[in-house]
Amino acid sequence: MSSSQSVAGPGSEGSSAPDHRYLLDNARVEAGERFTWLAELFDGVTRGHFDRLGVTAGGRCWEVGAGGPSIPAALATAVGPTGYVLATDIDPSWLDPHGGYEVRRHDIVGDPPPQPGTFDLVHARLVLVHVPDRARALATMVAALRPGGRLVIEDADTELQPLACLDEVGPAQERANRLRRAVRELMTRRGADMRFGRTLPRALRAAGLVDVTASGYFPVGGTACDRLEAATVRMVRAELLAAGLADDTEIDAHLAAIDAGELDLTLAPLISAWGRRPGQP
Ligand SMILES: C[S@@+](CC[C@H](N)C(=O)[O-])C[C@H]1O[C@@H](n2cnc3c(N)ncnc32)[C@H](O)[C@@H]1O
Repeated sequence: MSSSQSVAGPGSEGSSAPDHRYLLDNARVEAGERFTWLAELFDGVTRGHFDRLGVTAGGRCWEVGAGGPSIPAALATAVGPTGYVLATDIDPSWLDPHGGYEVRRHDIVGDPPPQPGTFDLVHARLVLVHVPDRARALATMVAALRPGGRLVIEDADTELQPLACLDEVGPAQERANRLRRAVRELMTRRGADMRFGRTLPRALRAAGLVDVTASGYFPVGGTACDRLEAATVRMVRAELLAAGLADDTEIDAHLAAIDAGELDLTLAPLISAWGRRPGQP
């Protein structure tokens, strides 16, 4: 979120200002684990889009809200030594300053575009859904593109498929779905838009892009879904308890069921949308 936005932080009880701090803060130890499993689950999809759009040697790419190092590293490999990759985040501490890409702290809402009008590709995955001023963030990314450059935005649409367990066959699956609703409620209270994914084609056209196309993907079951869920629930445990949205007993039972491999957990669909800035280079 923008550093200029008001925040209801500790000690601000009684304030009516909404609390739009990013819930899954990178300062927490579980963040690195989440990036590992997000990469396992979604990097194949993301890289498929890059390949189809043609990220090639000598290209200039900006990875926004990069989180972990996997996508900046993949882009750096694709563009090679004659290309350039910039990876930014409000908290870039999980990125590798020696990974073959430039690392900068950058707030996609509050800061101006770096190197405007110069990038062949700008990409953000699972970032805008958490950002309060999404139109402004999109405008910043579009302004960074060269004429003819591509923007690829990937975001969840949790309302489209809100379940943790599609096959709600018993109490463990029902509990998983109840806790998923609780985490969703926490994110909504922090300003996340749980229906953002479906709006992407329209949002990209509204931002001035042409040739806009989109697709969707979600995994069903497997180790990566299990580990991501466990890391996420551990990460927001204190907030769930403080908000009265869950208790220790059900959180512990859920984590044990994940460890037992009983749940066939799934995720919200990732909607990937891409478009081109009008004009030729
Ligand atoms: C759910 S993680 C996704 C990380 C990565 N893009 C991925 O798909 O694995 C969201 C990331 O967006 C970053 N972020 C949140 N708000 C941001 C903002 N206003 N500007 C830049 N980055 C932001 C967070 O710090 C975090 O690294």
